[in-house]
Amino acid sequence: MHKIVILLIICKPIFSVKERREGDGILNQRFIPDWSDLDRREIPDWYDKAKFGIFIHWGVFSVPSVFSEWFWQEWQGEKRPDVVQFMKENYSPRFTYADFAPQFTAEFFDPDEWARIFKASGAKYVVLTSKHHEGFTLWPSKSSFGWNALDTGPRRNLLGDLAVAVKKMELRFGVYHSMYEWFNPLYIQDRNNDFKTQRFVAEKTMPELLELVNDYKPEVIWSDGDWEADYTYWNSTNFLSWLYNDSPVKETVVVNDRWGRGIPCKHGDFYTCSDRYNPGKLLEHKWENCMTIDKDSWGYRRTASLKDYLTTHELIKELAETVSCGGNLLMNIGPTADGRIIPIFEERLIEMGEWLQVNGEAIYESHPWKSQEDSSTSGVWYTQRDGNVYGIVLFWPKQELLYLHDPLPSNKTVITLLGYPDSLSWKSNDKGLQIVFPSMSEAPGKFAWVIKMTSLTKNKMKARRKV
Ligand SMILES: *[C@@H]1O[C@H](CO)[C@@H](O)[C@H](O)[C@H]1NC(C)=O
Ligand SMILES: *[C@@H]1O[C@H](CO)[C@@H](O)[C@H](O)[C@H]1NC(C)=O
Repeated sequence: MHKIVILLIICKPIFSVKERREGDGILNQRFIPDWSDLDRREIPDWYDKAKFGIFIHWGVFSVPSVFSEWFWQEWQGEKRPDVVQFMKENYSPRFTYADFAPQFTAEFFDPDEWARIFKASGAKYVVLTSKHHEGFTLWPSKSSFGWNALDTGPRRNLLGDLAVAVKKMELRFGVYHSMYEWFNPLYIQDRNNDFKTQRFVAEKTMPELLELVNDYKPEVIWSDGDWEADYTYWNSTNFLSWLYNDSPVKETVVVNDRWGRGIPCKHGDFYTCSDRYNPGKLLEHKWENCMTIDKDSWGYRRTASLKDYLTTHELIKELAETVSCGGNLLMNIGPTADGRIIPIFEERLIEMGEWLQVNGEAIYESHPWKSQEDSSTSGVWYTQRDGNVYGIVLFWPKQELLYLHDPLPSNKTVITLLGYPDSLSWKSNDKGLQIVFPSMSEAPGKFAWVIKMTSLTKNKMKARRKV
């Protein structure tokens, strides 16, 4: 305790001199393992600019691929009747969850092909479940003997191979990592001791996180499974100060907020708060909306039907709302146990990418504008970039006429539709702005359209009252 206090007093003045670094614009400073200090860290620029990432849930749960990635817990923890029944009907009574692992074969896994699809989606980063709550690691973890992808099942370092392929495509590579494991005896022992012992953290969680960072240099650490214990049990602040001060990724790494009970939505480089978090309003702190294309599962689900998958229009809506409100979208797919990304996921990703090819100017490196959704026309979400304001229009306007309340044009304003050659005619009065779209047969692309407005008048509210 004393040592830390002294360190604080001595170090603060020395390191309060901030030094700009080249590249990601990270400030070179040291952090003590305390939230108030860790919270001073500026989030590396690349993350806010990226806006869109792909989340991958892959593990032994991809073998049964029914219900969800929580299969094991639902079967033998909660004993959900339908899951218990499924096992009874289809497997011998001696069959254990570990017996699924040899069927995690990944024989069709082509990391370069995956990376090509991710690149084509327009995403800028990829986050893979290095280990979900089942405890199975997709890399040959030294602390997960026999329960990892090299020792059984695929007999391959899935994570290492994907990391290489993703980086080759100039995408950032990140890892999801579950702190707790449903059935790990060391964890259960610590929990029975009211988390006053830390054997599981010392022998499993910490060594794994260090190994992941040192060996694979992930630029996103997406922590999860933290909620049963305090951050002091998980040693989170010690880990994060090491990560920010001394790790090989200290300049560029970003972390989420799931580092212990009560921490989400309060600490971390970006907030995830809850799954599918999408507040619909501007937040001051950087945040991420993690959501999944299959509405009912993060892991692959053989029984999913077409209506269970979000449509590309719904996904673009999610992206527009999220980016307009200052968030990033982390969109999840669940590959199969034999290593495929099924065509429905592939199609969604490719269509996102085609849309972003035309409209990415309104997304990447954009910033929230003073208004998020237009205050009179719903389904129009704003962003801004380089002095221009973009309106992402989630519908084709009736009779080709779009009415907007919030942007106040100047006499220099030019309005264009991204992907369409001519500028659009518009007029403005005290009620708002009326923009004439081309005929629908000339619509550039599908799903949603983006108008770009130059030279808007800055102090909208005052000006509009004067008119
Ligand atoms: C917590 O982190 C500190 C600093 O990295 C380390 O010295 C300590 O052993 C860790 N404690 C546990 C239980 O892992
Ligand atoms: C454009 O607006 C500016 C400032 O309001 C004004 O001074 C100028 O005369 C206007 N120009 C035209 C061509 O209307």
